[in-house]
Amino acid sequence: APAAPVFPLRRSTSPASDEARAAALAEPGFGRYFTDHMARVSWDAERGWHDHRVEPYGPLTLDPATSVLHYGQEVFEGLKAYRHADGSVWAFRPRENARRLRESARRLALPELPESDFVAAVEALVRADAPWVPAGDEASLYVRPFLFASEPFVGVRASRRAELVVIASPAGPYFPRGLAPVSIWVSPDQHRAARGGTGAAKGGANYAASLAPQVDAAARGFDQVCYLDARTGSLLEEIGTMNVAVVRADGEVVTPPLGGTILAGVTRASLLRLLADAGHRVSERRLPLAEVVDGLRSGEVVEVLACGTAAVVTPVGRLAGDGFDLTVGDGSPGPLTAWARATLTDLQHGRAPDPYGWLH
Ligand code: COI
Repeated sequence: APAAPVFPLRRSTSPASDEARAAALAEPGFGRYFTDHMARVSWDAERGWHDHRVEPYGPLTLDPATSVLHYGQEVFEGLKAYRHADGSVWAFRPRENARRLRESARRLALPELPESDFVAAVEALVRADAPWVPAGDEASLYVRPFLFASEPFVGVRASRRAELVVIASPAGPYFPRGLAPVSIWVSPDQHRAARGGTGAAKGGANYAASLAPQVDAAARGFDQVCYLDARTGSLLEEIGTMNVAVVRADGEVVTPPLGGTILAGVTRASLLRLLADAGHRVSERRLPLAEVVDGLRSGEVVEVLACGTAAVVTPVGRLAGDGFDLTVGDGSPGPLTAWARATLTDLQHGRAPDPYGWLH
């Protein structure tokens, strides 16, 4: 493997005051406050990746013709760093994000950042802004790498310039109501991804496409949207910002398989591993909406959960769509959902051992 690049640090001359940072860490919310620095790597077709650096956080100056602003050629990642009780700081499975960013970039015709550069960028930023990593049960530093087409050119073709930027934001629970169960609207007619499309890539455009369905669902009183497969309209796929799984009364945990239309969540993969290693029967198989609806009515489906880096493991308390509106269990978090959340977060926060070497 190539040697990890060095990210020279140009320190901010106007970092947040200790008081301002402490106030942000006390009530971080999600994605509201940003640290003092950002990591960057530039790319162009002639030089490849160059100018690895950490510099003061601040606005990007973009030519109005910059192609990302016109055609949305952009991909991103999300991962978290945790402060353990001894003060040390650990990132969760950053290589998985590095690999996925490459796969996303390939689909969006963006250059592939070497995985060692990605991990070094995350490390350099988290080191520079270590005082921003909160301590506490539900707290973390959310790291957001993103890669965009930066060539000023409005013709439609792959950009000959790109920019990787990594920013970071102290985070509490993703949902304002904390760990309370979320309500989900299963969209009967709006789809997120199709076979051969970009659904497996973590591109900003997928999230842009989810906003109007999200607005519609919110108007109906729901927190999030669950999408069905575009080909048959009958299979659960994912929740846009989260993967989805159900727990059956016989103990089987079922989640839809990856296959090009679903994001390969790092939290999803980690949970499947933890569940399987704890002796649970885990199935990645097609999950018909009818099976879930019938199962919730008959009691054969006892829990529905959503998972993602930002939201960790979140119980679904209500599932509704065209012709059904069902409470999951008694509407409160189920035992397996609670176990999964506690087991994963205990490992991440250093309250339990890490037999997998997931912490970096
Ligand atoms: C995540 O990092 O979990 C995402 O999917 C991005 C967004 C929901 C914050």
